[in-house]
Amino acid sequence: MSLTEQPPADSGPDPDRTDAAHQALRDRIAADSLSTRRDYLRIVATVSGGLAVGGIGVASGILHRHGDSATPPEPKKVADRLQPGESLAFRYPGDEDRAIAVRMTDGTLRGYSAVCTHLACAVLWRKERGSEGELYCPCHEGIFDPRTGGVAQGPPPRPLPKVVLIERIDGSVWAIGTARSGESAEEGLCREQDNAFRFCPGGTGAERSERT
Ligand code: FES
Repeated sequence: MSLTEQPPADSGPDPDRTDAAHQALRDRIAADSLSTRRDYLRIVATVSGGLAVGGIGVASGILHRHGDSATPPEPKKVADRLQPGESLAFRYPGDEDRAIAVRMTDGTLRGYSAVCTHLACAVLWRKERGSEGELYCPCHEGIFDPRTGGVAQGPPPRPLPKVVLIERIDGSVWAIGTARSGESAEEGLCREQDNAFRFCPGGTGAERSERT
């Protein structure tokens, strides 16, 4: 090479090598962001899949629900007294089964599972809402009618299962059975107690007078 063919001392980086380095860097960033997106999508799929399975489990009855006991539930005292407009959280029929008792302003007693039929969040009593109060699920703004357990608003697909309550002469409140979502209290009692009440279809007429 002659002196006249020497490259200038300040010619800067080789453009071909610079382009190659930039391309390699772009490829690496693209690969990283792709794997990050994949991880993110995997996490989202896992979480939402878990929620969906929980919801399907509740909806299809795979998970334990009120009214699905293999044996008739035992009567259980849940309160010495319950005043009009007040509610009480308790467990029935099992220690894991969240339930809620409500005394309407006209004195009527109502009991329900406190597990929302949408995605199993806890149902709360809101005394000041509506004309008679409401049973409210804060997770997705679900509202249930406190007189019937029926869905009044929001995504819950089914009414709340019932807990059958009675009041004894001393004012104490007892849970004596459960009814599945959509069943009446009488239907639930007849199913659980093998038609042992006079009001049951084909009931035996046994001397059991407890009913709501
Ligand atoms: S879990 Fe109750 S409204 Fe969604």
